[in-house]
Amino acid sequence: MDDKWKSYLEDLIYWGEETKESLSASSLPESEMKQWINQLDDWQLKIQDLLHEQRELTSKEMDEINEEGKRIFQDIKKWKANMGGNEVPFGEHELPPLPYAYHALEPYISEDIMRLHHLVHHQSYVDGLNKAENELYNKNSTDHMIKHWLREQAFNGSGHYLHSIFWENMTPDSSGKPEGEILQQIDKDFGGWQEFKSLFSKAASSVEGVGWAVLLWVPASGRLAVQSFEKHQLFQLAAGIPLLVLDVWEHAYYLQYQTDRDEYIDNWWNIVNWQDVNERLKAAKLKV
Ligand SMILES: [Fe+2]
Repeated sequence: MDDKWKSYLEDLIYWGEETKESLSASSLPESEMKQWINQLDDWQLKIQDLLHEQRELTSKEMDEINEEGKRIFQDIKKWKANMGGNEVPFGEHELPPLPYAYHALEPYISEDIMRLHHLVHHQSYVDGLNKAENELYNKNSTDHMIKHWLREQAFNGSGHYLHSIFWENMTPDSSGKPEGEILQQIDKDFGGWQEFKSLFSKAASSVEGVGWAVLLWVPASGRLAVQSFEKHQLFQLAAGIPLLVLDVWEHAYYLQYQTDRDEYIDNWWNIVNWQDVNERLKAAKLKV
């Protein structure tokens, strides 16, 4: 078997392990958790068998394995949403699993960055949001501290929600350019894909200090908009729904790109998950 395919299959097994660990640490009911873990186990066993066979695999076999992994991940997401899994009680937010292995976005984003970014930085926003919510809603915080905890909620909450979108906005299997409905909407609102790409890149480059470039659907205007956010919560466009977000905090690129933010931005376009952006656009358009 080709080394490239071998390491790809090993990556999938590794991702399966990480997802199982993340499921085990979550607050899912035990019966559901076992069901998803069993599905992941079966999927990993299939991959192990293919690795042992040591023969060349067809691209159809590869696609089937890839699709099954994606299907399990999407089923877990859908199940959580249908069971009211989107309703997180105050103070009980959890770090969501990555939809791919930590090294899956290489060479564009290194494994070291992804590990630190997800496990340390994103976790700190989850913890900060839980703390702020506990103070605001579950305790009788003193009046003079309200302003502080509201600010903490805005900073950490926006940090948690934006990172949760950011991970899903990326994929190792990017189409490289927008397709379908999002492409039509980009053409309509920005005059073309290259025009949008240039505007969004400039927005990302222009962020002072730390922040994000964001493509939003604005229901009140029935169109897209590009906005930059400073930190996580400043200069947001009220009532806009984020579809595509790019983290330009230094923690997102410094270990690999040092101060060259523009190179990071250029490379990032290679890993955008346009299918995810399309799904977000469809869901956003249902909200009036
Ligand atoms: Fe970040």
